[in-house]
Amino acid sequence: MKFQGSDQYVATADLMLAVNAAITLQRPLLVKGEPGTGKTMLAEEVAQALNLPLLQWHVKSTTKAQQGLYEYDAVSRLRDSQLSGIEGTDKVRNIENYIVKGVLWQAFEADAPVALLIDEIDKADIEFPNDLLRELDRMEFYCYETRQLIKAKHRPLVFITSNNEKELPDAFLRRCFFHYIKFPDAPTMQKIVDVHFPDIKSEMLAAAMKTFFDVRNLPGLKKKPSTSELLDWLKLLVAEDIPTEALKSGDDKVLIPPLVGALLKNEQDLTLFEKLVFMQRNNR
Ligand SMILES: Nc1ncnc2c1ncn2[C@@H]1O[C@H](COP(=O)(O)OP(=O)(O)OP(=O)(O)O)[C@@H](O)[C@H]1O
Ligand SMILES: [Mg+2]
Repeated sequence: MKFQGSDQYVATADLMLAVNAAITLQRPLLVKGEPGTGKTMLAEEVAQALNLPLLQWHVKSTTKAQQGLYEYDAVSRLRDSQLSGIEGTDKVRNIENYIVKGVLWQAFEADAPVALLIDEIDKADIEFPNDLLRELDRMEFYCYETRQLIKAKHRPLVFITSNNEKELPDAFLRRCFFHYIKFPDAPTMQKIVDVHFPDIKSEMLAAAMKTFFDVRNLPGLKKKPSTSELLDWLKLLVAEDIPTEALKSGDDKVLIPPLVGALLKNEQDLTLFEKLVFMQRNNR
């Protein structure tokens, strides 16, 4: 199994190397990077390229590690026991009928290797990664209700993404292979845009890319626009048929780009940008 990028996803050489390293080590690949730099999509694309089914676990602030293993549905069991006649009691007696399997269990019991995405692990509380140490390392856990050891038939290919909202514990990091998706440089970004908009006019794209990187490189921005924002913006520019001239700031004018709301997402950044444009105009 080797990952070599895909038609829809532009993977840099170091990203491919990281994916293949994680496959070789059989350790989870921990992917960090700015929002919108393709962390979640990476898991989807690798799974597709390697022909593995993808199980996804999207983590929220309330998610508990146990939910990924299994949950015991005591309420249904109680209800069934109250409602059922003689014929229902067999079901009620067997506790297995009330164990709801989580994604890890499903991944472990699958007959063929699968990919498993644990998305945005930093959203959960600090205990979450600690509670999964053994599961991710040994790929097994114990179900106390049924007194079963659930052990992976095949080690799943695990992707874990994080936006860095919380630090991850060292013991957890030790078990992962780490990759930081750097913000794409201009040539890589060009490739990404080509994948999404193969027919875009090159002159318009060049002007849009220049504006995008100018905005991104503004010092002091609270939220820099990322890949997905550039793609949104280009989609709008194409849909609204914005002329290339509207993007170009000539010698005599510096412009606020049209539909700037796709790139800048808060009023401080907008004000900063407007001030800068105003100052540059006055300097001319
Ligand atoms: N390398 C790439 N090749 C092709 N498309 C990309 C690439 N990187 C990002 N994109 C585009 O950006 C969009 C956002 O990617 P994705 O949802 O994977 O970001 P993310 O890093 O998971 O963001 P978040 O941290 O907000 O969840 C994708 O839908 C895709 O269209
Ligand atoms: Mg994501």
